Amino acid sequence: MPIPMAAKGMADIPFAGIRKVFEKAARLEKKGQQVIHFEIGRPDFDTPAHIKAACVAALDEGMVHYTPNLGIPALREALAESIQQHKGIRYDPEVEIMATAGGQEAMYISLQAFLNPGDEVLVPDPGYTQFYSCVKLAGGVPVALPLLTHENFAPDLSAARELLTDRTRALIVNSPHNPTGAVLTVEQLEEICRFAAEKDLVIFSDEAYDRMIYEDDKFFSPAACKDMKNQTVIWGSLSKTYSMTGWRVGYIAAPKDLIAAAIKVQQNVILSICSFAQAGAVAALKGDQACVTRMVDEFDRRRRTILQGIENTPGLTCPAAPKGAFYVFAKHDVPGMNASELADHLLEKGGVAVVPGTSFGTRGEGYLRISYAISSENCREGMERIAYAMSLLSR
Ligand SMILES: Cc1ncc(COP(=O)(O)O)c(C=O)c1O
Repeated sequence: MPIPMAAKGMADIPFAGIRKVFEKAARLEKKGQQVIHFEIGRPDFDTPAHIKAACVAALDEGMVHYTPNLGIPALREALAESIQQHKGIRYDPEVEIMATAGGQEAMYISLQAFLNPGDEVLVPDPGYTQFYSCVKLAGGVPVALPLLTHENFAPDLSAARELLTDRTRALIVNSPHNPTGAVLTVEQLEEICRFAAEKDLVIFSDEAYDRMIYEDDKFFSPAACKDMKNQTVIWGSLSKTYSMTGWRVGYIAAPKDLIAAAIKVQQNVILSICSFAQAGAVAALKGDQACVTRMVDEFDRRRRTILQGIENTPGLTCPAAPKGAFYVFAKHDVPGMNASELADHLLEKGGVAVVPGTSFGTRGEGYLRISYAISSENCREGMERIAYAMSLLSR
């Protein structure tokens, strides 16, 4: 009898649905089919040259050793300045900011540092799958919180009230939102904050897409709401803003008690994040921000192409205009077909990979996530292929 090698709890940790789509697409590509990749959630741009140069210079200067567990002071100071400028909140770089290996590690270690066994956390459904997994890995209980489709995918606070128990300690907010691209308004965030304040809940705010906002929408952090800084934990990231996904640089901005606990987790995970990536991150935050504007403008053009494509495709609609990140959550009405079956059909008959909404929670049924982090040309062609594959279905 072989010795079981995986802990029992691992069976409850889902394998990322996006990887499954990617692997199916790779199998088709191996057979010679050309696939348009609408499933990938990472910008296709190269990291801007001045950021790479700062990293190379750091390597040349011998910056190859461990750094402080919290990250180098220059990075924490640059993060504090950037947060102040873009979110209007003042954090002390000495004790309230910690550099992490991407927003993903920020999420993992802050939940490890915060949760007691059995503590419940309200997680958006649909939402980024790792919210669920990281709560579980920290011994907590994720509780699916429905979003209001026709209200900008804001959390349903009446449902939240019903879901509260004496074990509920926190709520996860993610604006701009993956997978819907929704950006919550200031009023919606203020309402969430009032709810959290009334119920003594900590808000974990995933702000990975904070700079990727289109049209006249504005980013707003719950930590900027009156009296909320002390009960909010920000998960930030440089991955998407500067096209630095492989560099693995993100941060936690939080009350100092949380940071003091998180540092103990960091000491047992990776000690400190990559030294020379931190030098690049400082250049990203302090350098010319025109590179961000250029990338966001290009994403906006692609977003419009996708929305136009959806409008031209019978059977697909977009219930809430996506104003952020680089995702469109398209609703489909193909009788007798669920999101996963439709995604398979689009891949097989159209050569287009999209992620079924159910990869983001049960309430994602009936939706497909289209990521426009690929070239404009591919966005156009992908939407034509989707329209063709949809036209093969009887409705
Ligand atoms: C909502 C959300 N949060 C966090 C992350 C993690 O990103 P990173 O670890 O690269 O900062 C992602 C990545 O796609 C995401 O979509």
